[in-house]
Amino acid sequence: MEKIRYLKSSWLVLCDKNFTIIKDGFVVFDDKIIDFGDQNRLQKLYKSKKFVHLGANSVLMPGLVNPHIHLEFAANISTLQYGSFTLWLKTVLKYRDELIDKIDTSGIDKQLDDILKSGTTSIGAISSYGLDMNSCIKSKLKVTYFIEAIGQDISKIDELFENFQKKLKKALSFKSKNFTPAVAIHSPYSTGLSLIEKCLKIAKEKNLPVTAHFLESYDEKQWLEHNSGVMAEFFLEFFNKNRSSITADKFLELFKDIKILSFVHCCYASKSQLDYIIKQKAMIVHCPKSNMLLGGKLLDIKDMNNISLGTDGLSSNDSLNMFDELKMALFMHQNIELETKARVLLYMATNMASKTLGQNTGQIKVGHKADLISFDIENKHIQNLATNIILQEKEIKDIYIDGKKII
Ligand code: BEZ
Ligand code: FE2
Repeated sequence: MEKIRYLKSSWLVLCDKNFTIIKDGFVVFDDKIIDFGDQNRLQKLYKSKKFVHLGANSVLMPGLVNPHIHLEFAANISTLQYGSFTLWLKTVLKYRDELIDKIDTSGIDKQLDDILKSGTTSIGAISSYGLDMNSCIKSKLKVTYFIEAIGQDISKIDELFENFQKKLKKALSFKSKNFTPAVAIHSPYSTGLSLIEKCLKIAKEKNLPVTAHFLESYDEKQWLEHNSGVMAEFFLEFFNKNRSSITADKFLELFKDIKILSFVHCCYASKSQLDYIIKQKAMIVHCPKSNMLLGGKLLDIKDMNNISLGTDGLSSNDSLNMFDELKMALFMHQNIELETKARVLLYMATNMASKTLGQNTGQIKVGHKADLISFDIENKHIQNLATNIILQEKEIKDIYIDGKKII
């Protein structure tokens, strides 16, 4: 059991639905949040306790959660071609072995360390090869470890499924409170139907979280829905295939009854597909920097309350720092009042991202896990607090995971 801590900060940011901010807020926690509130109530209630003040300009808030990363592709700087999704995909196929050869345990560990130090306390790591498994098991971060099924060549499905099962068995043997094995279906265009069905059957039986990329690009939409466009040319050239084996709608239906479910990107999903995703109680992960680098469009985040924020991997981003992603997103999205937008984005990067991974973190709430970060910012007007949290360069001073001080 973690010792009980009594902290106060200039700004306590709950990251609840209403984005409550408590000026001079107090919080009491062991591994979970025991109590929080303002000076009046808490000081009276815990009269005999000494609350540690984090400093005159301090913010205390939930740790950020990054629900979608590919750690194994970190050797990419300029190997993959940016600007068009299908051109990028061609370079992924051409250079993936080369990139994977360049990554080693220290490269994975370095990313995990950087992620933690930048204020992220939980990640969803999509693993294509299993090279990152030991690092994720050992990491201080909370990791939902998605073992990815990819490959649509029918003659290889048995081999791919065997490989998937082997990695899953190993991951399950290391399951712990901070390492959660899970399943990723790469996408509707890249994963064979029978492979998807076999992997999802296991996910349902074992009640594992599931994620999939979905309608990330216009090219994907044209291919899945009309068997046309540049992705159709790509499939003809590389796989001698002239029809997609699945439509976008049929793909979504395969995930029925998965409890912890997310679709990544969804930039080109139609209104009815977005509605269907909501009906499934599934979450969407929005990765705006990746979308901009691969020639995509910006997801409309305004009226949806099932969207979280993520970075994607260094295969389609220059940084895994969630505060970088937040800042870019703040500048990209339009038609939302500035501070409201900053609050929505912070809510997406904490509360919604935690929900995406099925965790009870991402919000300062009694009973929730005490995954918290603190840092200093300058802030004069409470009406600009969320904007300033995102805008200002900051060093993360304290990090708690399950109430344990990590940094
Ligand atoms: C494959 O591994 O079979 C694949 C990957 C990406 C796109 C298409 C196919
Ligand atoms: Fe991705």
